Amino acid sequence: MRRAEESSPFRKPFSMAAAPLRFRGMPRRSRFVVYALVFISFLYLIPRMHLGMGGTLLFFLISPEAAGPYGGGHKVDILRYVDPLIGTTNGGHVFPGASLPYGMAKAVADTNSHAENAAGFVSDNSEILGFSHMHDSGTGGQPSMGNFPLFVHAGCPEDDHKQCVYSLMDRPIARVNGSAFAAPGYFSLNLTNHVRAEMTVTEHTALYRFSFPGNDTLTLKSDDPLRKKDVDITYSPIILVDLVDLMNSRSTGGIQVYNQSGRIVGEGQYQPSFGAGRYNAFFCADFKGAAIRKTGTFISNNATEGVNFLDGVGNGFYIPSGSAGAWIQFEKPVENNHEIMARVGVSFISVEQACDNAEREIADYNFERVERHCCRHRIIRGRISCGIIPPSHTSTRKSLPKTADAGRLTCRRFYCIWDSFRAQHPLLTIIDPPAQTDMIRALIDIYRHEGKLPDCRMSFSKGYTQGGSNADIVLADAFVKNLTDNIDWDTAYKAVLSDAEEEPQMWGVEGRGNLESWHKLGYIPWDDIDTNGTGPMSRSISRGVEYAYDDFAISLLASGLGHDADAKKYHQRGSNWRNYWNPQQADLYREDPDGPVLKTKFKGFMQPRKLDGSFRYENTRACSPVHNMHICYYDTHLSSYEGSPWLYSFFVPQDMDSLITLMGGPDAFVERLNYFHTSGISYMGNEQGFLPVFQFHYAGRPAISSYWARSYIPSLFNSSVNGIPGNDDCAMGAFSAFAMMGFFPVAGQDVYLLTPPFFREVKIKAKSGGNKWAVIRVKNFDPEGRRIYIQSATLNGRRYTRNWITHEFFIKGGILEFVVGEEEGKEWGRGEEGRPPSWYGDEDFGDWDGNKGVEGVDAEEEERQAGRRGR
Ligand SMILES: *[C@@H]1O[C@H](CO)[C@@H](O)[C@H](O)[C@H]1NC(C)=O
Ligand SMILES: *[C@@H]1O[C@H](CO)[C@@H](O)[C@H](O)[C@H]1NC(C)=O
Ligand SMILES: *[C@@H]1O[C@H](CO)[C@@H](O)[C@H](O)[C@H]1NC(C)=O
Ligand SMILES: *[C@@H]1O[C@H](CO)[C@@H](O)[C@H](O)[C@H]1NC(C)=O
Ligand SMILES: *[C@@H]1O[C@H](CO)[C@@H](O)[C@H](O)[C@H]1NC(C)=O
Ligand SMILES: *[C@@H]1O[C@H](CO)[C@@H](O)[C@H](O)[C@H]1NC(C)=O
Ligand SMILES: *[C@@H]1O[C@H](CO)[C@@H](O)[C@H](O)[C@H]1NC(C)=O
Ligand SMILES: *[C@@H]1O[C@H](CO)[C@@H](O)[C@H](O)[C@H]1NC(C)=O
Repeated sequence: MRRAEESSPFRKPFSMAAAPLRFRGMPRRSRFVVYALVFISFLYLIPRMHLGMGGTLLFFLISPEAAGPYGGGHKVDILRYVDPLIGTTNGGHVFPGASLPYGMAKAVADTNSHAENAAGFVSDNSEILGFSHMHDSGTGGQPSMGNFPLFVHAGCPEDDHKQCVYSLMDRPIARVNGSAFAAPGYFSLNLTNHVRAEMTVTEHTALYRFSFPGNDTLTLKSDDPLRKKDVDITYSPIILVDLVDLMNSRSTGGIQVYNQSGRIVGEGQYQPSFGAGRYNAFFCADFKGAAIRKTGTFISNNATEGVNFLDGVGNGFYIPSGSAGAWIQFEKPVENNHEIMARVGVSFISVEQACDNAEREIADYNFERVERHCCRHRIIRGRISCGIIPPSHTSTRKSLPKTADAGRLTCRRFYCIWDSFRAQHPLLTIIDPPAQTDMIRALIDIYRHEGKLPDCRMSFSKGYTQGGSNADIVLADAFVKNLTDNIDWDTAYKAVLSDAEEEPQMWGVEGRGNLESWHKLGYIPWDDIDTNGTGPMSRSISRGVEYAYDDFAISLLASGLGHDADAKKYHQRGSNWRNYWNPQQADLYREDPDGPVLKTKFKGFMQPRKLDGSFRYENTRACSPVHNMHICYYDTHLSSYEGSPWLYSFFVPQDMDSLITLMGGPDAFVERLNYFHTSGISYMGNEQGFLPVFQFHYAGRPAISSYWARSYIPSLFNSSVNGIPGNDDCAMGAFSAFAMMGFFPVAGQDVYLLTPPFFREVKIKAKSGGNKWAVIRVKNFDPEGRRIYIQSATLNGRRYTRNWITHEFFIKGGILEFVVGEEEGKEWGRGEEGRPPSWYGDEDFGDWDGNKGVEGVDAEEEERQAGRRGR
């Protein structure tokens, strides 16, 4: 399924280039002056390549009013090229609804698509559960939030409110096929019950416009076999608000409807989708456009008129559907074009805050004004949106800890850093440094108030740690790229030291585990006894290679801050990955379960190790698409997390030279990395898959990185609704953005690996300000995508032989120009001096001998596991 093309430059001559890229409706040269063409096609492609508003690259979108070479003069409505529905099937879990960049309100229709609706809406044929106001884009696992959905009936049978359905079990209704439409800041959908729903948002408030055909009697068609016959309803709309969330996790809640004003307020306590504890959420809904006829509440399908208050309603056995809420029945909204407006303010603090947010942000219920504000101004100004949301602002600040940053916009919720550290944060560092700087400050604040940095922070709760304490890498990355604005680096340093030195009691939600052994033995023994804390005691390889890289990141910070002894100590620990290297380990597999055990030529893999120093065998391919793909998700008995030992055997970004040596030298390394991509062991739907696309650079073969980037885009990353290969996590889009722009970050280091951009020219405003730009240009660009290998390069007119650049380019600006060809270049980036830095020399290892002669692998176990398949 995830298998890439079998052909690769490794197996075939280099003229076997990736298929030409063709994109429908690409602007034609004749229509624009040359530089506009380049830039516009860039704008056109990037947003379409992936991401909706929930993880998107809108930063290049320059407003029609903007000054500068690509601003005024070329009035192009670039927003119409953004398709938020990309990634809304096939497990992409992209949120396609209405949202401001980093906004708290994220409105969309929620679909009844079990295991797919993590972000609310899915482009499939499932029914609609309602319309809710808060979501996370791209999460894996359980659906996130989706609290307080609205649901709308145009009327009830026999004009009797008791004959309408209220419960989540019964109310789901089909959409009109093909009616879902999404644009930045806007989402709409027609339901088969004659209701049309449109939505837009401000920072903390969703605004809905529900419209009706206006007929006195309407027929509900019985497409549904359960609904035996067509039913006539009498036009008199009912809008209900349900206290459920998408996960149906409510432990308690309450709701009140005011029968004069029609205001409905409520609250509930819910579970974060990937974290511990509970969070509280509040809403405040108001309506406009029709007179109130009746009000009441409901529990499951039992609607009671005149009972306007419910309290203490959890999701207990007495409400099997979880549904409990309030409703209003309206007179016909004859005035205003048969429309009813619903305005829903949300808050994590209180009902008062929710109402205050709504009244302040949308006093006039003017849908067009809100939508225009949302898209035409806010978004164009150039920020990107993702699941990393700072919903705080002043309105949610109250209940949060007082901080040194008080008064600033600070990001309080992080999605999981394990997912976002590799591409998303580095992308923000380039395109939105103020936002990234805010997030750095927020991380430090979280350390101040929680005692530890988070690895994940869902809905204000501690999220689950997937591997290492990778906030250390995010901090180091920001540090080496000179983000400074009001960042307290001394406290940041204390925070990373705490990760490295002090094991928390519950290391499943913060910090690291098995630290005593990590310090003493330099690895996490498979059979370790950890008396300092508890957590999921598996994943010893993947945690180990991540702890090593985290420690390396700490050494960069230490060295930059002048803590020389620490720098040395953590640099040393950064080499601990070597303790997992079993040079004897073969790559064993079976073609079919009863067939013979086969062996590739590759030898030497990361393997779990026991307290006594011996290795324990684990299938090198376990948990890859070719072998039991899903057996290592979260806490399992396996030593690698969401990926195989094959994959983790490449995760040594700090010490690639040593890894290449252990793998048998550059040629053997290239052969192995190519096999990884051609064999199907690589999986691009998860973030650890990104860096191995570009690691050919370390062996002096940047052309092969380019080959694979061009192969995965568009074969796995493209502009169709299924065009994202795994749940977005904010990072799938960041991967394609970097890959298409022609530089990929080695997160945590001041290193970007260069490949030819997919465009004639990429221009990014330099951070130093003024009219300076960082420009990457392809001199003999080939729109057909055949010339994809760099032959030579110049930086500001001077020959440039490195296959990587540093962040200085994006700070100072400059012009990096490539000449490309159809064959792998003979020189550029190939020699020792052209390769990216590897931070360890032989002197760092003393008498380390590559674990020569290690014993203890059980041959029978090896044989047995080689063929283990399926579940
Ligand atoms: C929508 O289309 C699907 C097939 O693509 C079909 O199964 C379903 O019944 C259709 N729904 C409606 C409401 O027409
Ligand atoms: C949705 O409903 C509106 C209003 O009734 C109508 O104009 C529009 O054509 C409908 N769209 C689809 C795709 O059915
Ligand atoms: C509403 O009434 C008009 C005029 O009778 C009719 O043409 C239309 O089909 C009706 N719409 C619906 C949804 O029943
Ligand atoms: C509205 O609610 C108030 C107080 O709950 C009650 O006294 C009054 O009768 C209600 N009015 C209607 C029209 O239901
Ligand atoms: C419906 O709810 C009302 C008020 O909460 C309650 O008195 C009544 O017993 C319920 N009816 C059923 C059938 O559960
Ligand atoms: C483990 O616990 C012991 C005893 O409380 C303590 O001295 C030691 O520092 C702890 N180790 C770590 C790494 O937190
Ligand atoms: C787009 O990407 C998806 C998933 O990543 C893939 O299944 C599909 O084949 C790709 N489509 C094209 C046209 O390459
Ligand atoms: C960051 O600042 C240091 C010290 O001022 C400087 O040496 C370094 O080049 C800067 N790095 C970047 C990426 O600008």
